Amino acid sequence: MEKIIIFDTTLRDGEQAPGASLNPAEKLEIAHALADLGVDVIEAGFPISSKGDLDSVKNIAKSIKGPVICGLARAIKQDIDAAHEAVKYAKNSRIHVFLATSKIHMQYKLKKAEEEILRLAVESVKYTRKFCEDVEFSPEDASRSERQFLFKVVEAVINAGATTVNIPDTVGYAEPVEYGDLIKVIKENVPNIYRAVISVHCHNDLGLAVANSLEAIKNGARQVECTINGIGERAGNASMEEIVMAIKTRKDIFSNVETQINTHQIHKVSRLVSKLTGFVVAPNKAIVGSNAFRHESGIHQDGVLKERSTYEIIKPEDVGFTGTGIVLGKHSGRHALNERLKELGFVLSQEEIDKVNERFKELADKKKNIFDEDLISIVEDEIKLIKSTWRFESFVINSGTKIIPEAFLTLKFKNKPLSAKSSGDGPVDACFKAVDKITGIKGELQDYRIEAVTKGKDALGEVSLKLKAKGRVVTARGSSTDIIEASVRAYINALNKIESL
Ligand code: KIV
Ligand code: ZN
Repeated sequence: MEKIIIFDTTLRDGEQAPGASLNPAEKLEIAHALADLGVDVIEAGFPISSKGDLDSVKNIAKSIKGPVICGLARAIKQDIDAAHEAVKYAKNSRIHVFLATSKIHMQYKLKKAEEEILRLAVESVKYTRKFCEDVEFSPEDASRSERQFLFKVVEAVINAGATTVNIPDTVGYAEPVEYGDLIKVIKENVPNIYRAVISVHCHNDLGLAVANSLEAIKNGARQVECTINGIGERAGNASMEEIVMAIKTRKDIFSNVETQINTHQIHKVSRLVSKLTGFVVAPNKAIVGSNAFRHESGIHQDGVLKERSTYEIIKPEDVGFTGTGIVLGKHSGRHALNERLKELGFVLSQEEIDKVNERFKELADKKKNIFDEDLISIVEDEIKLIKSTWRFESFVINSGTKIIPEAFLTLKFKNKPLSAKSSGDGPVDACFKAVDKITGIKGELQDYRIEAVTKGKDALGEVSLKLKAKGRVVTARGSSTDIIEASVRAYINALNKIESL
């Protein structure tokens, strides 16, 4: 069996998705989750792009054990130096150098001729090899590059010391058969290709990133670059969970390859990335969408009850998806709650369990059936709150069609209640202004979304928002059966996050 190397670029290309900025603590949290998931390489950032990125890659290189830690660099000495400075602390490090080889990029972006590009590619790889034995080279926009020139560059960088050559479909232009053929002809036309791992990096502009990656594997690629939930530049990158599960589910086709991903962790990591980036996963998203394993029509439900495989090609539990049934209610005891939390993969301290239990009881008074999604939402809320400065206590709202909404809000600061009154454009705005008065922090709301965690009129509402304050931007979530309370909780979570940075 041959191994497919999973190169995760959630923290680099994924973070390049417009609006998906993560702070260093969040990046580290995701890196830990990726290591637990079993990825082989973590592309942790683009160190030359900012001091923050350099420090963050450094931090990940120092803390994460297991995967190779990789930093991105253009084919420029300063970039390579910065990448080396950041990844050198990792037990196993990699530097990933890229330089465009398509006519369109060379002419308009780089304003350089082929000979110059070839020279820079070779020099940059040789320079990188002085610091690092594991060097990846990407001829950017490879899928739109002239094939003969691409072969020449690939051969030259391998001779210069590149150990992995990545063939990016930078603008998501390729079509599966064509892209598979590109990998095949590279193998046939580059004499020293056996000395390097062929990697693929597909973007999803035509919705073909996963299909292209799979076709490339069939034709000999042995590393796949991908992101959790498929986040990334523009329409995103190839989605890791889809590639991994396609290989696993269609063993009849992918009979000679396997990945080392612990698929049971997929759902948890997907949720974490969604929570921290603020990018909501579409309900119908393959593998990790909330509807991915739900059967609505009677015929389907009947079929699944008789024999799961009638309508299920993947066992939900194989990807850690547990949100299928009613789990707990008002009469469920602490023991049942503890057991369910453990089954969901949460390892909580006594203090955390007490807090979750408190919120669970409050929720059970308002909501008959508590689903796994409700529990996950409470746990995520509470764990963040325990380490926090400000806690939500209560609110009273006076709002209607002909009056200016007014909020009277109470928060707790180190267990001391503090209240304020404020008006606003709407009830949520009035509450946020009251929070600003109490905390003395002026928050600027940059994004606000609300969605129901489960179905039914009594469903938990989950608010995700992006807040700017004290020159920092963070994303946070809050949940409650009351959407105003969920909004206030999310807003306070964001302020607490800002205070903790
Ligand atoms: O899409 C792309 O070409 C990239 C390279 C840096 C590999 O992200
Ligand atoms: Zn990319």
